[in-house]
This record gives sequence, structure tokens and C-alpha cells, in this order.
Amino acid sequence: MKPDKLADGVYRVSAKVGNRDLFEGIWPIPEGVMLNSYVMKGSEKTVLIDLVKDWDGAAEALDGQLSDLRLGEGEIDYLVINHMEPDHTGSLAAFVKAHPKMEILCSEKAVPLIKHFYKIEKQVRAVKDGEKLELGDKTLQFFMTPNIHWPETMMSYAIEDQILFSCDAFGSFGRYEHCFDDELSEEEEVLLVGETERYYANIVSSFSSFVLRGIDKVGALPIAMVAPSHGIVWRSNPMRIITWYKTLATYMNGPREKEITLVWSSMYGNTAALVPYIVAGSESEGIPVHVLEIPKTHESFVLEKAWRSEGLIIGMPTYEYKMFPPMYHILDILERSHVVGRKAMRFGSFGWSGGAQKQYDAFVASMKWDAVGVVEYQGYPDEEDTRSAYEMAKAMAKSIKNA
Ligand code: FEO
Repeated sequence: MKPDKLADGVYRVSAKVGNRDLFEGIWPIPEGVMLNSYVMKGSEKTVLIDLVKDWDGAAEALDGQLSDLRLGEGEIDYLVINHMEPDHTGSLAAFVKAHPKMEILCSEKAVPLIKHFYKIEKQVRAVKDGEKLELGDKTLQFFMTPNIHWPETMMSYAIEDQILFSCDAFGSFGRYEHCFDDELSEEEEVLLVGETERYYANIVSSFSSFVLRGIDKVGALPIAMVAPSHGIVWRSNPMRIITWYKTLATYMNGPREKEITLVWSSMYGNTAALVPYIVAGSESEGIPVHVLEIPKTHESFVLEKAWRSEGLIIGMPTYEYKMFPPMYHILDILERSHVVGRKAMRFGSFGWSGGAQKQYDAFVASMKWDAVGVVEYQGYPDEEDTRSAYEMAKAMAKSIKNA
């Protein structure tokens, strides 16, 4: 890849990571992910904003593009670490060795993290909220935006060019041939929509209150471009991604989309038997239903749909007096990501003894879900169970429609 020019003296240097690994060791990236860093060359000083992890050739790609910009040893004055997570800092120790005179600028909370992760203490300086870094004819300003998506996170802003370097915020999964929003093909646009929603739900959702605070803070700036560390650069319509993130963050406490996510798992087909009736009941009120089978579907995709949906339907049998383990795992993921306050119903079978419902009830209370009801039965569902499942799903869909 070659550097992409954002403005005179401002470049994206980026790497496309493939789909062989999991992001954060948990989330599938079937379409890969971008790791973006940025160069800002002033008339006197040069800064590199964020690094990469040595992952699928990313560190090599970064070095090659810095060479294209003639930025060898002694030619980068500052490295800005907006966020310490290793996808943006994994190559730090090697980079510091190659650029020993460079000063590292970061938030106060990042200083001990740099020490503990990379054993680096020299030439590390904490910057303050609102502090400016003069580069000659260009100025970079720092804004503390904690918990997007670690407590030490900050954003950097190029004052003269009005470019916001937002790191994880406003990012997306996916690899893109083109750098800018106005260059995307129709296919890339489709990819971007799905992979922005999934990235948000997987990586950022539990920090949504901080996202809203961060948007309030930097939203007051004149922004010509949003340049995140994953995904594309928003040049022609930067407000699109800011507004989009605001909507995604608002899903935590609502309002949400008038949709239902039906996530189910079945041992012998007795729980699965009700799925078509529940889908039919929900759809009879015109509410779209996302149907996801566990464990065939990775939790990444469940979280994406659950995050946006007002309604959740959980199909889960009892297993050894408790919730079926693959579904227990899904509920744990929903809890970690703060998928709170939804309307919810459950259906499921048990063999010689129940038990899942008791554990589920405690979970529902802790998540402040509005429990619409349960259809639970021994063995295979009978006609009454089938009718109840249809009617309960229909009533839930109706209440979502009319809310
Ligand atoms: Fe892209 Fe929170 O790291």
C-alpha cells in the first residue's frame, strides 16, 4: 500500500489485516480489518499518530510507507499514542529502537501502561486535555476522551486542516481498497454498513455513555475529516459517521430499532420446534426478526443484531438443572456489552427436570429486561405450547410496533 494524502503534509499510512485471526482474540473478522496510522508534517516538526501491532505484515507495511514519505530515523519528532491497546501499540518497542530520539506523547493514564506493556519510560510525556503541540505551520491539539475504548484514550485534532484522529471511535471492521468515504464502490459501501455496526456492538457498545460524552466534546469542533484507526477516512461527509455512532450509542438506553433478535439453541430439536411459530407471530405484526442459531453462529453476529433490537427472544432448553451452556455464554456476552432494558421472552424444553428458567429469571432482573413471558414445556411442545408461542411473540411484536 502507498500513503494516502488527506491534506498537504497529512497522510494515512495503513495496513490491511487479513481474516485468519480473531480481533482481540475473540471477534471474527471475515472481511479483515484496517490498521490506520497518520503522519502530520509541519514546517518544523513531524508527528506520527498511532502505531500498529506486528500483525499480518502491518508493521512492515507501516515502515514501507514511512520510507515512501522519507521518514527514517531522526525524522519523526513525536509519536502520539491516542490509545494503548496493542492493535495500536504492539510494535512500539521495535519502533522506539528504530527512532530513538522521538518523544512519545500520550494521556497521563497511558504512561504506566506503556511502562508495564513495553517497559518504556524514557522520552514519554503526558499531555493534558486541550494541550496544543506546535509543529511549525501546523498544530495538533489533544482531547481526553476516556473509555473509547480504554480509560487512557484520547483523540488528536489537526487544527488548521480540521482533521479529527479518533483512533477506535468512528471505526469499522473490514478491509477497503479505497481510503475515503466518497471513493467507495457499492460493494464496499454494503460492507461498511454491516462492519461498522458489528464493530460498534463488539468493541465499543459497553462504553456507549462515554461515546456520547466524547461526541459532545469533540462535536463542537469544526470537523472537515474524521480519520479513525480502523476503517475508512470520512472526508465528504464526516457527520455521517458521527451521527451514526450517536445512534448506535443511543441503543444502550433506547430508543432502538423496532426489530426482534431471536437467538436459539436446541439439543434434540424440541426447543427448535417452536422457532417457526415464534417467527410467524413476530412477523404477523410487521416486525423484522433476526434468527440466529447457537452455537452455529458466533456471538459477534448475535451481539450486532441484539444491540440494535428492541426485542429479544431467547430459545434455550434446560441442561443439568441450569441454562444450556452455549446460551449461557451468549447471555454472558450480552451482559458484558450492557444489552440492557430490552423486551424479552423465552421458550424452551426440559427433560426430567427444569431449572433454566430460575437462572434465567435472575439474569433478566439483573439486565432490567421487561419479561414478556415464557413458554416452557417438558419434551416436545404440544398444540397449546405452539399457540402460546405464536401469541406471545405476536403480542411482543405489537407492543414494539406501538411503542
Ligand atoms: Fe483498536 Fe481498543 O483498540
